[in-house]
Amino acid sequence: MITEHVNRIPVHLDGKTIYDIVLEDSFDALAKEVSALGTEKKKICIIADSNVADLYLDEVTKILSGCCREVTSYVFPAGEENKNLKTVQGAYEHLILNHYDRKDLLVALGGGVTGDLCGFVAATYLRGVDFVQIPTTLLSQVDSGIGGKTGVDIDSYKNMVGAFHMPKLVYTNVSVLRTLPDDQFSGGMGEVIKHGLILDKEYFDWIQTNRAKILAKDADTLKLLIQGSDFIKREVVEIDPTEQNERATLNFGHTLGHAIEKLKNFTMLHGHSVGALAAMNICKERGLVKQDEIDAYKALMEYFFIPTSISGLNTEEVIAATKNDKKMEAGVIKFILLDRVGHAYIDRTVTKDEMERALATIFR
Ligand code: GLY
Repeated sequence: MITEHVNRIPVHLDGKTIYDIVLEDSFDALAKEVSALGTEKKKICIIADSNVADLYLDEVTKILSGCCREVTSYVFPAGEENKNLKTVQGAYEHLILNHYDRKDLLVALGGGVTGDLCGFVAATYLRGVDFVQIPTTLLSQVDSGIGGKTGVDIDSYKNMVGAFHMPKLVYTNVSVLRTLPDDQFSGGMGEVIKHGLILDKEYFDWIQTNRAKILAKDADTLKLLIQGSDFIKREVVEIDPTEQNERATLNFGHTLGHAIEKLKNFTMLHGHSVGALAAMNICKERGLVKQDEIDAYKALMEYFFIPTSISGLNTEEVIAATKNDKKMEAGVIKFILLDRVGHAYIDRTVTKDEMERALATIFR
């Protein structure tokens, strides 16, 4: 399956192409791709955090200046703790003071925090303006940058306020992953591997086979990896853009994982939350996956420095924390399970006992 490079992955809704995911090795094609959105007379506001701004803001500003009327930027301090309404308010103020109107364009330059936040500003400023995603982390290139989920956190409640607002373009420059800190790369791999578990066994096997080249950040292999995950994400988003049903399968591992992340005050990376490994153990108890499949998953996690256990928590507090999860529906936990490696489904029958035994397998 993953043998040939593609440079463009169109995303469709209701039979129409809504936007393209463009895969490149540089920012060289950015001006052409953004200009194709008809930006000549528009203003563009780039939203970036302080880390990414230091690395790429000048380069991207220069490029975009050539394809629109004016470029400004709104830079906020890096960190999940700034993915909140205060930062959104700062962005609104920047847009108002710089006279942005409904025809102008926002650009999210950064990882998941920036993409979600900028997308939310775009969804709500003047009741909605267009935006472009330029994801700069592995996680945002394969997951959060695609599919139009936008939002911010309210205190320790992640993504509690948000909107579905599709980007007009996702421009992926794979080469920026070379400056990505190792732990961020590892966290991104947590999600990539899950894509294989949820929807594509062949992709999971491909990751196993190519793990050394992926870890070495071999440019060709990384591009194939990202396009493989993008295909999976696109498939789910096209079927169920607003998460009425199938899209929830992308949340494999989230019920326990989010509870763990919350109890750890979001000090751990999302891709490191070990919720999927616990969920795999529920699948094994139910006879849906085999121990050697869990072992293979665990080995791959270890290869990419993804933790496979967690300390300092107890079962009761994790289970109590799952009750506040967005995945609750009419008081019942929507749990994602695998009926085989490469296929996930929504289950509403997972018991407290099953969760307790699953947690015991990941506690140390
Ligand atoms: N990250 C899960 C989703 O986009 O639905």
